[in-house]
Amino acid sequence: MEENYVRIFDTTLRDGEQSPGATMTSAEKLEVARGLARLGVDVMEAGFPAASPDDLEAVRKIAMEVGNMSGEGLPPIICGLARATKGDIEKAWEAVQPAARPRIHTFLATSEIHMQYKLKMTRQQVLERVREMVAFASSLCADVEFSPEDAGRSDPEFLYQVLAEAIRSGARTLNIPDTVGYTMPDEFGKLIAGIIANTEGIENCVVSVHCHNDLGLATANTLAGLRAGARQAEVTINGIGERAGNTALEEVVMALHTRHASMGLTTGIKTGQITRMSKLVSNYTGMNVQPNKAIVGANAFAHEAGIHQDGMLKNNQTYEIMRPEDVGASQSKLVLGKHSGRHALKVRLTSLGYSLDEEEMDQVFERFKLLADKKKTITDADLEALVSDELYQPYELFALDGLQVSCGTMGMPTASVRLRDPSGDLRTHASIGTGPVDATYNAINAIVQCPNSLQEFVIHAVTEGIDALGEVTVRIQGENGKSIWDAQKEIGQPLTFGGYGADTDIIVASAKAYLSALNKMIVAAGRYGSPEKVAAEAL
Ligand code: KIV
Ligand code: ZN
Repeated sequence: MEENYVRIFDTTLRDGEQSPGATMTSAEKLEVARGLARLGVDVMEAGFPAASPDDLEAVRKIAMEVGNMSGEGLPPIICGLARATKGDIEKAWEAVQPAARPRIHTFLATSEIHMQYKLKMTRQQVLERVREMVAFASSLCADVEFSPEDAGRSDPEFLYQVLAEAIRSGARTLNIPDTVGYTMPDEFGKLIAGIIANTEGIENCVVSVHCHNDLGLATANTLAGLRAGARQAEVTINGIGERAGNTALEEVVMALHTRHASMGLTTGIKTGQITRMSKLVSNYTGMNVQPNKAIVGANAFAHEAGIHQDGMLKNNQTYEIMRPEDVGASQSKLVLGKHSGRHALKVRLTSLGYSLDEEEMDQVFERFKLLADKKKTITDADLEALVSDELYQPYELFALDGLQVSCGTMGMPTASVRLRDPSGDLRTHASIGTGPVDATYNAINAIVQCPNSLQEFVIHAVTEGIDALGEVTVRIQGENGKSIWDAQKEIGQPLTFGGYGADTDIIVASAKAYLSALNKMIVAAGRYGSPEKVAAEAL
């Protein structure tokens, strides 16, 4: 591989999914994995197979399909995370084995505080465990990555010893995590340079960096690590992840792209897919992107101040260091309309990266026609919202069949809701509420009977114009104490689920988003059997 090439290791499906409320169903994970492959990531960490049988199965499915994708170039490496135990490593191997290029990623903490309080292990014991477990992983899989957890707060001299041991035992990627986001960019750069200069055998390995964003320094630290010689960056879409998150893929990739003259490093990322992936992950996790987020925020390419607008009109480089189209943010305005046929729709969806089968095309085309009756021009953003809403609602246990609301200043906001339940029966309920959304949610609750509290409700228009599609994302949490599912009890804290819905009618979009989150919650609760059973029968 070229010396200045930076491997992009995406961990949206593992570290990213660990952020509170970012839980995705296995169908959603598979769709994200397909998107990551289109984006051109070199490695995707598809999950933590030892966490649960569902996690193992989700990673296996990704390994089987995405890990064997034929297209331009090789399929991405599919990686599974494992603690440094035999059981975890075996599960990770079981999950990633079907991929053409599998990888096991194992880790053990090396900072004094982690070794003393969490692991209750001495330095010598840590060294021995690393030797044994990396050797065990290498006996199963040719590609092994090792991470000394909390490396950012570890004694560098001890790190050199641990990493050399991992290399002797077969690891070929050495990942250096700043697990708690503690280091400063100059310190992290020095740490990486020190590791490269002092670790025996490192010249035959790839050094990787994995930074958390607790002090808002994850991207700066990652870039400092790359400058110091690391050639793999571990990142997530939108920077989601534990606590304040991980390094954002889009920030590192666009920094390397935009400042190539200064950094001299390249990646294989197709940057035009970035905005689309950002939206997909935000819809599935229910985690909205802040408007001023670098690269993918709604305002990232908006110019409000008159003086800026004037500059932009004269020469857009006055205030724009990247073009919106570089990251796929400039959607063509007039794409399709009422008179566009099925073929035109298919061609457009294919160019957006979707490959739908005939049945899915029929479904989307039907929705497209309905939308085209209400909305004159249909943009790429509309199509993406429509496909997400129509096709990627993995478990439609309860589906919206009808909705009627009355609201305004005269009288009580009232909603009548008709749902199709899992046995196919139609069930209707009418409720009042403080507003039309509240009334709708009360009516849905009366039918579905799954206690929860609404944590977040966000509504926004997909495009400008009064006829725009409205997109709603919600996050709901199981009510503590009244929880009905074991997973929640096991974890000891309420689980959060995100939902997404799109429609020209924002109350309908709100109902769909709420139902999509509720359906996920019901599946997790196992009320209708295991998620696999539900997936097999309910779709
Ligand atoms: O932050 C961290 O230390 C991790 C490791 C498992 C690599 O996520
Ligand atoms: Zn991490």
